[in-house]
Amino acid sequence: MTKKKKVSSNSQSELLKLEEKYCSWGDTVHYSKQPKIFERARGPYLYDDKNVEYLDLQMWYSAANFGYGNERLNSVLKKQIDKLPQLACQYLHKEKIELATKLCQLNEKKFDAKGRVHFSVGGASAIEDSMKLIRNTTGKNLVFAFFGSYHGRTLEASSITSSYRYRRHFGHFANRAHFVPYPYCFRCFYGKGKDTCGLYCVRQFEKLFESEYYSIYDSKGDECEFTAFYIEAIQGTGGYIIPPKDYFKELKKILDRYKILLVDDEIQMGFYRTGKFWAVENFGITPDIMAFGKALTNGLNPLGGIWAKEKLISPGVFPPGSTHSTFSSNTLGTAVGLETLKIIEDSDFATSINQKGNYFVKQFKALQKKYPNIGDVDGIGLALRVEICEADGFTPSRALTDKICENGLSGKLSAQGKRRGLILDVGGYYKNVFTLAPSFYMSNREIDLALELFEEALIKALKA
Ligand SMILES: Cc1ncc(COP(=O)(O)O)c(C=O)c1O
Repeated sequence: MTKKKKVSSNSQSELLKLEEKYCSWGDTVHYSKQPKIFERARGPYLYDDKNVEYLDLQMWYSAANFGYGNERLNSVLKKQIDKLPQLACQYLHKEKIELATKLCQLNEKKFDAKGRVHFSVGGASAIEDSMKLIRNTTGKNLVFAFFGSYHGRTLEASSITSSYRYRRHFGHFANRAHFVPYPYCFRCFYGKGKDTCGLYCVRQFEKLFESEYYSIYDSKGDECEFTAFYIEAIQGTGGYIIPPKDYFKELKKILDRYKILLVDDEIQMGFYRTGKFWAVENFGITPDIMAFGKALTNGLNPLGGIWAKEKLISPGVFPPGSTHSTFSSNTLGTAVGLETLKIIEDSDFATSINQKGNYFVKQFKALQKKYPNIGDVDGIGLALRVEICEADGFTPSRALTDKICENGLSGKLSAQGKRRGLILDVGGYYKNVFTLAPSFYMSNREIDLALELFEEALIKALKA
């Protein structure tokens, strides 16, 4: 009998060959020239097979906000594995009820609105559920969304995600959103200046309702063809873009006038990424529906969900079985989610995250003075953007961005007497923005280390 070779005994290069052959390339791994295998994670660091330490400035697209291997969250997960590891969703367990209660009570306080929470298994599935809720409420299925939006990659989520690249291989999207320019003031779609524009982009949106011949509104019947507007209060994949303070207030007035629901996607920016529990709190408006996921469980057992106002989601209008997944309110995810909320209650993130974020931005702005290729630096809480350009400080440079990213990932940087790596993630309309979502627990020393590594990766890229 021939002995079977164990996968675990394969070397890194053998594993990469197997991956190339047996793993689908349909996900995002092969965006990178040299896919990387990591062995372990702790705090803000990832480690490869040679024990090289990589400082992670993206924390799994803002899913692992509370640090890799967070002891408090891990230990709750382990306890739940020993106590109630599995349970069919038609039965109840304590953590699900307590987690939903906490989120609803929190929103009641924040928004003075009663509502309910409905769980699902991740971001895109939460978006799917929100769309069912909208269809159920209004009987319609067309919505507005933003240029630069990202809401996930299931079919419905892709239909409200702006990039055509995500849709073009998958046939006709009858429900494709009507996309509207996001207030991306560094590169204003209308070529206006932030301080003098008078929110020109909102006025352009408002103009669409002036005549039925602008395609979206029947002025005789007072009815808009589009029934909700999906927003990211801070745009995530689009490049961590921070809108002007009054933008959403002005937009909301128009939506209210035309009875259009506001759906707030907090999947990437929720749970304190922006220095407030929800990103939308930075703008003083109340959404009708919210979607959340990622950091609720610190990226441990998948859990997502929606919160919606009572009138949209009460059992009388959204009856049992309206949506379902076997894994939707799983016992492991809900236990961790509940502990995440307890961590938030026990911490002063409103202070610490804003302090760390300000320090980060200050250091990056100092670097920007030295390197004209850093076109824009901005941040809110610990959602930070660094836009990489040609030497004119404006023309986007995807090539330079990619080189910096690869230098970080090579694990061949050195700082403080040690070989190191740096994990960066690239977003933005021109793929030239580092969207930085560092761990909430990074110390100022680690922020200095991040800057040192970033500068080294940049210098090497400029020389290449
Ligand atoms: C704003 C936003 N919405 C939705 C999603 C999709 O979430 P998931 O990847 O968990 O399906 C993401 C993921 O990055 C996101 O950033």
